[in-house]
Amino acid sequence: MMEYKRITVNPISGAMGAEITDIDLTSGIDSETWIEIQDAWANYLVLIFRGQDLTDQQQFDFTQRFGKLIPHPYVKGIPEIPEIFKIIREPGESYSWDGFYHSDLMFLKKPPLGATLYAKECPPYGADTAFTNMYLAYETLSEGMKALLDGLEGENESGNPEKYSNKYQSMEELGKKGAMGAVHPLVRVHPVTGKKALFSSLAFTKRIKGMTDKESAPILSYLYEHSIQAHLGCRLEWEKGSLALWDNRVCLHHAVADYFGEVAKHRRVMQRATIEGEEPISIKKYEAMQAK
Ligand code: SIN
Repeated sequence: MMEYKRITVNPISGAMGAEITDIDLTSGIDSETWIEIQDAWANYLVLIFRGQDLTDQQQFDFTQRFGKLIPHPYVKGIPEIPEIFKIIREPGESYSWDGFYHSDLMFLKKPPLGATLYAKECPPYGADTAFTNMYLAYETLSEGMKALLDGLEGENESGNPEKYSNKYQSMEELGKKGAMGAVHPLVRVHPVTGKKALFSSLAFTKRIKGMTDKESAPILSYLYEHSIQAHLGCRLEWEKGSLALWDNRVCLHHAVADYFGEVAKHRRVMQRATIEGEEPISIKKYEAMQAK
């Protein structure tokens, strides 16, 4: 890990996540600062930039530095920038589509590389986003389980797109019908760090390729319960003007639903910009690439 001279990096848990202060994302980022942000991101996986006063275009511009942005396949983007969509929950709503830990859009052939989430309106308490570090989830498995998973693939499915819109009353659906699916390795290798990470979530990974649902279920449930242990993750506390950046290749996340529905009734408005990814790399493919 490098010594940071341009940004202040304060870890928020032992497993992952850091707050970045002393930076104004609206005032241009010089090359040294950019190198430090990338290094901190690779080390902490989730960064939270506090006290930012961003326009939609500034969120777009900052996020786009990491790669091309893509619209959500089912949720309508904001009128001027379709790649940014709002995640709104009004008081009284009870349905959450981000209640399970997940990696975004795992059902795409090329799941996103990462995303930024910007807090526009926050409840007075709660409404954290919880993350888990999938490198650690992999590394803390037994050698027997690692050997079993090596070479296995998960079948990831979006399910009925209505779950993204109709039941989540304040979000605008795009009108696209039909479920999507993609098969990905259960263990993927990060193209930059070369480290192995679990890539499975009960939200989207419905079965293991070549196995029945019944055979897959105990393995996938175990991996999920193992991955989401509190000591493998962190929780981001939001305040208006915070911008989170996560590496979707090696994190699961979910919105902690403690501020609406049965429990409390507060409005929350976030907006997400999603960065295009590549096809996940299996261990076998990575080894073949290294051997060349
Ligand atoms: C998401 O799943 O991208 C949204 C997380 C959140 O609203 O906290």
